[in-house]
Amino acid sequence: MIIGSNLLYYDTLTSTNTEASLLLKNKDLPEGTVVRAGFQESGKGQAGRRWESERSKNLLFSVILYPESVKPEEQFIISMTISLGICDFIDRYYMGSKIKWPNDIYINNNKIAGILIENSLTGSLIKNSVAGIGININQEIFSEDIPNPVSLKLVTGKELNTGEVLKELLSDLDIRYKQMLYEARDNIREEYISRLYKLKEWCIYKSSERTFTGRITDISEYGHIIIEDKKGNFKQFSFREVHYLS
Ligand code: BTN
Repeated sequence: MIIGSNLLYYDTLTSTNTEASLLLKNKDLPEGTVVRAGFQESGKGQAGRRWESERSKNLLFSVILYPESVKPEEQFIISMTISLGICDFIDRYYMGSKIKWPNDIYINNNKIAGILIENSLTGSLIKNSVAGIGININQEIFSEDIPNPVSLKLVTGKELNTGEVLKELLSDLDIRYKQMLYEARDNIREEYISRLYKLKEWCIYKSSERTFTGRITDISEYGHIIIEDKKGNFKQFSFREVHYLS
């Protein structure tokens, strides 16, 4: 087992990603070390947003990775790998989880999990990667300003033991991580694409230039989304260049 070989648990942290980065500065931690918290005072979301989670109700952790074989320009493969591992885990309890590009995990039209991957680069290598994962397990009430949250409890009606389900999740992540390391990466990309939320469905998107009807057709090798518009033009966007509206 790589992911989950070393588990560090803290009652409270500012953010597990921040703590993992700090630990990396001071010591050599084994690959797959998991830094977990029961509560984050300042959980970080993507694009400078915050990640909210009620104390002890959910899973909040960061995994330390040394993906030596991944070049910086290929780093989206880590996002795809982690996303698939989380979907495998969620499918144990509720089938049909989807990935909203780039790496939000959805059940139906609601977000159940978020991923924040922070890579530290040295020259042409990824020195380390901190994969922060927040999954809503037992939380039933969320702040009103969180757009569309959901938890496993809300969809299944069942309360789960977070410590026990963590073991399953780490095992699912470990299987996917080994697939990334030792098997053809195209399989990961293809599976990631087939899991995409709104894949090939006509929807409204907003880019910096316009609001348009389009459908996701593909994801490039480097993680860009490819959207076809109604005129049959295909356009490629990087993260934050395009937003799904409805
Ligand atoms: C997002 O969807 O915006 C990403 C959310 C990532 C949240 C997790 S919770 C554990 C880890 N520590 C953090 O501060 N953030 C990530």
